[in-house]
Amino acid sequence: MKEVEYEGLVDPVLVRTNQRLLEVLVDNKAPLTMACGGKGLCATCHVYVVAGAEMLSPITPRERRSLRMLSDARSSSRLACQAKVIGEGVKIRQPQGRYITGTSDLESLIGRRAEEPILHPVDGQTLIAPGKIITRSRVRALVQVDYEIAEMRTRSLSLRK
Ligand code: FES
Repeated sequence: MKEVEYEGLVDPVLVRTNQRLLEVLVDNKAPLTMACGGKGLCATCHVYVVAGAEMLSPITPRERRSLRMLSDARSSSRLACQAKVIGEGVKIRQPQGRYITGTSDLESLIGRRAEEPILHPVDGQTLIAPGKIITRSRVRALVQVDYEIAEMRTRSLSLRK
């Protein structure tokens, strides 16, 4: 077993050698989602590796392609569904913001100010900046996001993990 530190969780999480980061983080209630079902096609499991990058499996071509699309990607970025833990010393943190899984996620927030960036689940772009009021017309203007999510899910169904 290896220990992984995740900013936001009090205790390190225990990971079996070669286990994917995402499975363990979700089991430990880290606020990550899996909009593409763990196929390496979205932004919702995007993390920054603060330490121990060499203790994760190498980036796959699919992961590299997806990371290139993320607006907030850095050289330390990984997709937790693609990264397997192979050694000790991995420390990660999540990008700031909340990914939506569809514009329906915003319905209950209409009339309120965004407390954190509302993020596109496929490319990580900020859809609504913090402090902005979430209005019905603003949500309607994001309809394209639902199409992009549907397209990503269709691609996801045709891929193996
Ligand atoms: S869950 Fe979609 S890329 Fe990891």
